[in-house]
Amino acid sequence: MRQNPYKDRIVIVTGAGRGIGRYIAEAYAYQGAQVVLAEKDQDSGLEVERVINSQDQRGHLILTDVSNPQDITELFEQVQATFGAVHILINNAGISRFEAPYQLTVEAWDQIINTNLRSVFLCSRAAAQIMRLTGGGSIVNIASTRAFMSEENSEAYAASKGGVIALTHALAASFASDQIQVNSISPGWIETGDVANLRPVDHRQHWSGRVGTPKDIADACLFLTDPQNNFINGTNLIIDGGMTKKMIYAP
Ligand SMILES: NC(=O)c1ccc[n+]([C@@H]2O[C@H](COP(=O)([O-])OP(=O)(O)OC[C@H]3O[C@@H](n4cnc5c(N)ncnc54)[C@H](O)[C@@H]3O)[C@@H](O)[C@H]2O)c1
Repeated sequence: MRQNPYKDRIVIVTGAGRGIGRYIAEAYAYQGAQVVLAEKDQDSGLEVERVINSQDQRGHLILTDVSNPQDITELFEQVQATFGAVHILINNAGISRFEAPYQLTVEAWDQIINTNLRSVFLCSRAAAQIMRLTGGGSIVNIASTRAFMSEENSEAYAASKGGVIALTHALAASFASDQIQVNSISPGWIETGDVANLRPVDHRQHWSGRVGTPKDIADACLFLTDPQNNFINGTNLIIDGGMTKKMIYAP
């Protein structure tokens, strides 16, 4: 029988304090990985660390603001010193802000781009520098279906996520000779709150008949980072219940 491919692997998940990132971190911890929670919010990060470790699994909070390059440098220095390896990186941390383009300030634009896009480059490069020393690894970047379709007032977020998808195939090319795969996932509507509060129409509008859950994204991360699936490289996986393929005309 094949060995569990995640057991004792060193996995870094950014933005692991809640929502999708928390579920991803818990999924790898459940599989026996050592999970580094790179989260900027101390309270939620400590809570996830506590929950993981209370189940005889291994989670390690390293307080990190991924929009700050110095924090990223320190994160990877600490991981290198503590574990001596990185096998899997999930670039999940992200923020959204919806504001009319006429009002959006340069500061707000920079904050979104630096959090959602620049951090993916800096974390991936820092991870790859460690991965290449131990035979390679796998990186998954969390993008969004808003890279492909839009509502109004979403310019900075859409641009950041479109950038993540382009950055993904560029990094896959550059890291190929180091046996590092880089892929992205574009979630559609993923409910991170109480699913019971959703309306029937919220579910019905999806071809899959339901709104997505963090588990849908975590399962895909596990799949993409399984070394057995390393022929999947440089690509983007849309997980949205069919919404980006749905043709819509006004009634
Ligand atoms: N939920 C959705 O429907 C959906 C859809 C498409 C894409 N996404 C993407 O999935 C990712 C996770 O989304 P979510 O809904 O779970 O978000 P969320 O807001 O519930 O959680 C984000 C987590 O990231 C942390 N974070 C934010 N900025 C950070 C920073 N600078 N440094 C470190 N940590 C930081 C937050 O503290 C929080 O713990 C994001 O990249 C988001 O853009 C979400």
